[in-house]
Amino acid sequence: MHASQIIARKRDGHELSADEIAFFIDGFTRGDIPDYQAAAWLMAVFIRGMSRRETVDLTMSMARSGDVLDLSDILPVSIDKHSSGGVGDKVTLVALPVVAACGVPAAKMSGRGLGFSGGTIDKLESIRGFRTGLSMAEFRAQAKAHGIVLSGQSANLAPADGKLYALRDVTATVPSMPLIASSIMSKKIAAGADGIVLDVKTGRGSFMPELSGAQELARLMVDIGVSVGRRMAALISDMNQPLGAAVGNALEVEEAIACLRGGGPRDLREHCVTVAGHMLRLGRRLGLEAQDECAAEAARTLDNGAAFAKLRELVGAQGGDVRQIDDPALLPKAQYVDDVIVPESGFVESLDALSVGLAAVELGAGRERKGDAIDHAVGLMVHYKVGDYLPEGEPVFTLYANDETHLAQVRQRLESAVLLSPEPVKPLPMFYDLITGDPE
Ligand code: URA
Repeated sequence: MHASQIIARKRDGHELSADEIAFFIDGFTRGDIPDYQAAAWLMAVFIRGMSRRETVDLTMSMARSGDVLDLSDILPVSIDKHSSGGVGDKVTLVALPVVAACGVPAAKMSGRGLGFSGGTIDKLESIRGFRTGLSMAEFRAQAKAHGIVLSGQSANLAPADGKLYALRDVTATVPSMPLIASSIMSKKIAAGADGIVLDVKTGRGSFMPELSGAQELARLMVDIGVSVGRRMAALISDMNQPLGAAVGNALEVEEAIACLRGGGPRDLREHCVTVAGHMLRLGRRLGLEAQDECAAEAARTLDNGAAFAKLRELVGAQGGDVRQIDDPALLPKAQYVDDVIVPESGFVESLDALSVGLAAVELGAGRERKGDAIDHAVGLMVHYKVGDYLPEGEPVFTLYANDETHLAQVRQRLESAVLLSPEPVKPLPMFYDLITGDPE
C-alpha cells in the first residue's frame, strides 16, 4: 500500500477500506507519512466526504493511535460528556459532581479554551493548587477512590487527532463533518467511557451556527458511538447568547458553585440538570422515559448539598484549595470592575454570544493562540437574557479587568452586542433537539 495511492483514491471519490484508512493514520502518526501527503489527503476528504463506514473506521484508527483507557476493571460504568464549545459554558463543573453524587462514576478529560470558546481546564486552574495534569495511573486511582475525576487530556490520547488537527488548522480543512466528528469521537472513545452525552451548540457563539449543521454533526457522532458499542445522547443547545451570566474563568467557577448550592442563573441550572439527567440515564441503562426522574434526582443533589460536597471532594483529591470553594471570595479577583450601560431601554432582542466571547478574550480570559497565557480573574457578567426587559440606565454587563486600557476597547464591542426592541421578544429556547442511540 502507498500513501499516494490512498490519496488518489479519495481524490477520485472512492470509498476507502478500513485497511487503507488504518495504514494512512498509523503511518502519519509514526511520522512515516509526511505532512504534505496528509494535507493532500485531508483536502481530498474535505472535498469528497466520507461514508458513515469510513468515518467510523477513521475514528477508530485515530482512537487507537495512542493510549486507550479501559476503566472496566475498576468501575461498573463510566459516563462522559462533551460540549462542542461555547461562551459561559461551565456545565461540566456542575454536571460531573451531580452525576457522581448520584452514585454514577464520572471520569472526564477536558480541554482548554481557544478563541471565543472557554475550556474547563482553564476554569479549574482558577482554583489554587488544582492539578489538571494527572497521569493515567492517577486518573484511574482517583476514579476508583472518588467516582469523580476531571483532568486535562493525556498527551498520548488519540495523538493522530492532535497532529491532524494542527494540519487542518492551516490547510482550511477544519469545517468538514467526517473530520470534526472523528476528531471529537476518537478522543471520547479513547478516554474509555461507556456512555457519552454530547452537548452540541448551535448559534452565533458556536462552531455550528446553523441548526441543520449541528443536527447533522450530532447524528453522525451518535452513529459513530453506537457502532462501537457506546450509549449515546446528543443535545442540540442554544449558543446565540451566553449560558448563565458569568464569562471568564474564576467568575464561572463562582457561578458553578452557586448552582451547586441550589442557586445561580435559572438557565444554567436547567441546562445542567438536563445534561446530568441524560448522564444518569445512560449510566443506569435507562430509556428516555426515565429522563424526567433522572433530571429530578439531579436537581435534588443541587438543593440538598450532595453535589456541592462532591465538588469539594474532587477539588481536595486533586490538590486544590477547598477554602476557595467554601468561600468563592477567595478566588482570583480583578482590580477594576466597571458596568456597561446602553443609552436606551427595551426588550432584549439579541445578545451576541460571539461578541461576548471575544470581549472576554480581549480582557485576557481566553487565548487567541494555543499556549497563550490567560488571566483567571478577568471576564464579565451578563445581566440580561433575550426576551428580558432592560430598563434605561441599568447595566447590561459588568466588566472585570486587570488592565484599564482593555476596558475601553471591550466596552465599545459590547455596546454593539446588544440589540433592543420596543416590542416584547420571545425568549430563546435552551434546546432545539435531542438525538439518541443505543447499541443494545
Ligand atoms: N473539536 C475537536 O475536538 N475537533 C474538531 O475537529 C472540532 C472541534
